[in-house]
Amino acid sequence: MADPSVVALLEENMREEHAAIAQYLYHAFRLQGDLRADLEEIAREEMRHLQWLAEALAAEGRPPVMERGDVTWEASSAAEALRLNAGLEERAVASYQQAARAVSDPALRLLFERIAADERVHARTFAEMAELAEAMGLALHPRPEEVKTAGLSAEELAQDIALLAADLRLEYTVILQYVYQAFVVKDCKLSRTLLEDQGQESMKHMGWLAEAIVDLGSLPVLEAGPINPATDQEEILVLNLRLEHEAHDQYARHLELLRHPRAREALGRIFEQESFHIRQFALLQEASAGTAAPQRPSEWPRLTVGSLLGQRQW
Ligand SMILES: [Fe+2]
Ligand SMILES: [Fe+2]
Ligand SMILES: [Fe+2]
Ligand SMILES: [Fe+2]
Repeated sequence: MADPSVVALLEENMREEHAAIAQYLYHAFRLQGDLRADLEEIAREEMRHLQWLAEALAAEGRPPVMERGDVTWEASSAAEALRLNAGLEERAVASYQQAARAVSDPALRLLFERIAADERVHARTFAEMAELAEAMGLALHPRPEEVKTAGLSAEELAQDIALLAADLRLEYTVILQYVYQAFVVKDCKLSRTLLEDQGQESMKHMGWLAEAIVDLGSLPVLEAGPINPATDQEEILVLNLRLEHEAHDQYARHLELLRHPRAREALGRIFEQESFHIRQFALLQEASAGTAAPQRPSEWPRLTVGSLLGQRQW
């Protein structure tokens, strides 16, 4: 029987980790050089926290939470953005320390203490990065003077930006869909493919689109569409193939319309990788159908979220 107060703690912290990832990536997309790489590295560590919390929720028989907590998007300079992030980390340290004190299960206490230790390092790192950014007078991009219009009118640029924004929304949705699936799917090989392969590649796609939007003089909007909560492997593979085809078709249409070379370059590379994604999911679907014979899909046991999430599978 799941403890409601433990479940609430884990769910709340999943929302906060998701918010931190979005906030740090948003700032990373607007920075250049080493600071961007450092921010992305911290965002990757928050992804691991998200995964640990999802596993702890699974141990309570509960599905992962993919909603996001509040994000502070805007800052007037790189230093201010980094100080905002340091503040977020300090609040996370306090929150995880409090969570560690509130639980009686030693494994959960260890988890919260472990994450609190990471967040303490993050807070210090962000404070140091903020000082560096301050000393260097670093700005957040885009800055009007550096926008490369490539000879396009304001209206043409706006059209390109709108296309890229739609693609970015699709990539963010796909990321959440695959991360959710990686957390709930029973097969550990498929889980790794979803998280370390398809999920991470989609994160790169989102980054390239966001950076292209910044280069064209606009700000990326990090909002995702709804995700499908299916947990059955067959359903997941059908859904993902549909998603990949949808992305592939949308990007093909947009490549016909995009004018700016920077936008075309970013989306062109993504488009090519989506072809591989389609082939990878198609192969997984074939392999999965092969191992399931002679059962027909309609006769397969229906797995509930609870039965899939009972324990860690690897
Ligand atoms: Fe975290
Ligand atoms: Fe952190
Ligand atoms: Fe993608
Ligand atoms: Fe894809």
